[in-house]
Amino acid sequence: MKRTRVVEALDAKMIGEKIKLCGWVRTRRDSKGGFSFFELNDGSSMKSVQVLAPAELSNYESELLKASIGSSIEVHGEVVESPGKGQATEVKATEIRVLGYADPATFPLQKKGTSFEYLRTIAHLRPRTNTFGAVARVRNEICKSIHNFFQSRGFIYVHSPIITASDCEGAGQMFHVTTLDLLKIPTKNGEGAQEVDYEQDFFGKATSLTVSGQLEAEVYATALSDVYTFGPTFRAENSNTSRHLAEFWMVEPEMAFCDLEGNMDCAEAFLKTIFTDVMNNCAEDMAFFNERIDKTVLETLTGIVNSKFERLSYTEAVDVLKKSGATFEFPVEWGIDLQSEHERYLTEQVYKKPVILYDYPKDIKAFYMRMNEDGKTVRAMDVLVPKVGEIIGGSQREERLEKLEQRMIDCGLPPEEYWWYLDLRRFGTVPHAGFGLGLERTVQFVTGMGNIRDVIPFPRVPKSAEF
Ligand code: 4AD
Ligand code: MG
Repeated sequence: MKRTRVVEALDAKMIGEKIKLCGWVRTRRDSKGGFSFFELNDGSSMKSVQVLAPAELSNYESELLKASIGSSIEVHGEVVESPGKGQATEVKATEIRVLGYADPATFPLQKKGTSFEYLRTIAHLRPRTNTFGAVARVRNEICKSIHNFFQSRGFIYVHSPIITASDCEGAGQMFHVTTLDLLKIPTKNGEGAQEVDYEQDFFGKATSLTVSGQLEAEVYATALSDVYTFGPTFRAENSNTSRHLAEFWMVEPEMAFCDLEGNMDCAEAFLKTIFTDVMNNCAEDMAFFNERIDKTVLETLTGIVNSKFERLSYTEAVDVLKKSGATFEFPVEWGIDLQSEHERYLTEQVYKKPVILYDYPKDIKAFYMRMNEDGKTVRAMDVLVPKVGEIIGGSQREERLEKLEQRMIDCGLPPEEYWWYLDLRRFGTVPHAGFGLGLERTVQFVTGMGNIRDVIPFPRVPKSAEF
């Protein structure tokens, strides 16, 4: 018999159907009348279905009364109208098999509220809680929405490599990839110092985990026009914050024949589509987040979908912050990299909606961004949202060969190592632009979850790679 999912069994249309259900017991209540109720969940929805187990079942005493929270069971029975409030149906069992017991003395997820910190230490069991089930479903919906958005607009999904020899952001925050024996590292004599001899390494050169798929996306955009990458990226920044991971997922569209305005328009439409899809397709999970995690998430998302993002230059933003009279831990001066307190002040206090800042000082941005006429700023843009801060970073790319080479030299990057990237400017160069959206920051923003470690199944952060 085909298994019915709990989400289907909850539907009144199923009343009268004989079904098979499988899942994990969330609670069992034994009534004085000589029967028991199981709340059964299989992750297909937030809600569990109530299963009525009559005492007449042959294994009622011997097995079912031992099936406590966390146990897995298979139920055969009929969907009936539920007399209880808050549910249309329940399942009257004719047979229940226990697939696996969970010893109540040692099963770590008992009914009582458990802190997110504790749940991180049992990341292999936390998807069985309401919150982490809901996070997984919302994260999945966001990924679906991301693909739908680009696919419906004719973008080609490109797979950029995980192992790379180039540092896209030029920030030197890369994890090395090597097969060299760390106790016997081969060296050679470089300029006045010993250097690792990477010629003896697996790839014959120094390699790392990628921080971004952008450079490779540019290769494909300058052939296929509109492309996107979507995959894991890695940063060895030692930031122990609620918004940083060492391994996170990023979606990076790259568009040929596109300038910064087109880039901003795309980013704004993209975020609005994601938020709309989540509210439409994960209504139950979103109601849960709105009630239990952050009472403002639905109102905030609805407001965003129906309003225009604020757009202002970095220079204007610095003026706004300086004139605000607010005191910040990090004082504001033109040229500083804006801190999360500044970003939050702009989105939460001043504009109360997402803000796109553009034209940043060149010294705080990556080498590939297009230089403005002023020689001081580049065509960068960041999309900031309340609470989370920066959710998107992007730019129009420098498509002029000489200017790009000069910028690389100024940033201390050897142009010869990026010869293939520079070739894109040598052969049929075009204006192009793109951005990167952090998937986890998006899940955080949508759900209201306070810590980024709770919106990815297995977080990787400094000093922690368990599971
Ligand atoms: O601003 P970033 O560094 O931009 C890039 O990597 C560009 N190559 C993107 C592009 O233009 N194609 O990162 C983009 C986004 C950030 O806005 C943030 O949402 C997320 O990636 N992000 C992180 N998320 C979690 N943990 C980290 N350590 C992150 N670093 C960046
Ligand atoms: Mg950034």
